Amino acid sequence: MRVLVTGGSGRLGRSVVAALAARGHGVVSVDVAGAGHPPGVEGVVADLSDAGRRGEVFAAARPEAVVHLAGIAVPFARPDVETLQVNAGLAWGVLGAAVEHGARVAVAASSPTVYGYNTPGWRPRYLPLDEEHPVAPWHAYGLSKLVVEEAVRALARTSGGCVLCAVRPGYVVAPAEWAGAPTQQGHTMAERVADPELAGASLFNYVDAGDAADLFARIVEEPGRAEHGGVYNAVAPDPLAPGPVDALMARLHPGSAPVAGALADGRAVFSSDKARRDLGWEPAASWRGLLRAERAG
Ligand SMILES: NC(=O)c1ccc[n+]([C@@H]2O[C@H](COP(=O)([O-])OP(=O)(O)OC[C@H]3O[C@@H](n4cnc5c(N)ncnc54)[C@H](O)[C@@H]3O)[C@@H](O)[C@H]2O)c1
Repeated sequence: MRVLVTGGSGRLGRSVVAALAARGHGVVSVDVAGAGHPPGVEGVVADLSDAGRRGEVFAAARPEAVVHLAGIAVPFARPDVETLQVNAGLAWGVLGAAVEHGARVAVAASSPTVYGYNTPGWRPRYLPLDEEHPVAPWHAYGLSKLVVEEAVRALARTSGGCVLCAVRPGYVVAPAEWAGAPTQQGHTMAERVADPELAGASLFNYVDAGDAADLFARIVEEPGRAEHGGVYNAVAPDPLAPGPVDALMARLHPGSAPVAGALADGRAVFSSDKARRDLGWEPAASWRGLLRAERAG
């Protein structure tokens, strides 16, 4: 298939581009920042917020599938209004272009931050958090990702020929970060496991970039198995902590105390069962093996 990946030069994008190319797809990687790509991948430098340039890129690529990752990827990295405008505008523009130019499937990156944890009043109704659990974003980045999901739902109402959905990847860990490079928050993965305050800020979630890429690739390859207008959590099945996180959740997120006991068996705070059920997604990487390999190496 011809697959257009936006944000293909980014932390997650590089793994998505590599996975799709390795699976034999023709990949066009579009990013405002240029970057090296695997052999056979076409790199296009473009600001996709520019409607004219976006139209040119889509007309030239004629993608059968679109993976939309481009955007401001970290809360508070930029002024709030900019984060909201860029992420919402890119989602509507890119997903709309996918439909307009005849793609059969388009999948966009959302984020677990739509659940709105880290407020004093956050009280999950139940744990683990699945896609049925209510969302309640409180910062501009989380709100921008809920807009991404709403853009998917809105376009899905009229785009009969193009399957649209969104994926909420956990804290994405790229290959270099397993090997000790600083993550998007500036600390290493080993430090994140050692200090519950660090991993606890995102409810101990994580996902290997290759595993996340595999879910995007599955949706691209088998859109008929994906829920049109739906959303999928994409989080590793174990928490990023040395043991069960029930007590840690109750301490760091007191509003979760009444329901945190559901995590006493060591499961993650987020459930990705829907991706497993619909698309056969089985994340293979666990921090336990990967960080041990780092120490041994
Ligand atoms: N990294 C994570 O832990 C994580 C978790 C959940 C969701 N996500 C989402 O996944 C996506 C990818 O995240 P990432 O960590 O790879 O981020 P990243 O910042 O590494 O990559 C984003 C890419 O988008 C590009 N970009 C930004 N604005 C653009 C524009 N106007 N036109 C073209 N390209 C543009 C950037 O140059 C960058 O290469 C984002 O949408 C992010 O919100 C990331």
